Amino acid sequence: MYEANSFLEKGEIVSEPSCLTPGSTTAGVELIGRRALVTGAASGIGWACAERLARAGAAVTIFDLNGDAAREGADEIGDEGKQADLSDYKVLDNLKIEADSVVNNAAIQYIALVEEFPPERFYLILRVMLETPFRIVRKALPGMYEKGWGRVINISSVHGLRPRRSRRPRTP
Ligand SMILES: NC(=O)c1ccc[n+]([C@@H]2O[C@H](COP(=O)([O-])OP(=O)(O)OC[C@H]3O[C@@H](n4cnc5c(N)ncnc54)[C@H](O)[C@@H]3O)[C@@H](O)[C@H]2O)c1
Repeated sequence: MYEANSFLEKGEIVSEPSCLTPGSTTAGVELIGRRALVTGAASGIGWACAERLARAGAAVTIFDLNGDAAREGADEIGDEGKQADLSDYKVLDNLKIEADSVVNNAAIQYIALVEEFPPERFYLILRVMLETPFRIVRKALPGMYEKGWGRVINISSVHGLRPRRSRRPRTP
């Protein structure tokens, strides 16, 4: 397994959430009045995205398998965190998505050689990292069209473009 926070340690991404003052970020992004959804934001890159979106002024909703951490994180940025197993079709069907910015970040990392890769794990990864983003975006798009504004960010990896031994499946 890789280190979940390996990106975060390399650069200035997360600053002190407790001092969060919504407004323009250093990148000049202002999202006051916008609603963002970040999946898998109880930790790692998703959390960094949620924190940065909140800092830019967006109302952020976090969905994560880990409900406690999702709620804890949301409390820090004054937003909403919910437990949701995004591999579950029933859960996905019942999700109400009103976000005009969607960050599809929830992910499962599993490293094995193809010949040893368990098929059921392969399908679960495809569902969470490919089908779930499709289903979420499908639900979010009508609201974005209505507002005439929307953003979809699908988090992948360099391995989505250039496969590496033992790091399959990956979605570009
Ligand atoms: N960390 C890295 O070095 C790195 C490198 C390249 C790409 N990425 C990509 O960045 C994204 C985030 O990676 P990370 O390292 O922050 O991972 P992480 O493991 O810290 O976060 C993934 C989150 O997804 C959640 N999740 C998993 N299955 C879920 C499900 N069924 N329903 C809801 N939530 C679920 C987990 O609970 C977890 O909070 C992934 O898409 C990953 O492929 C990460």
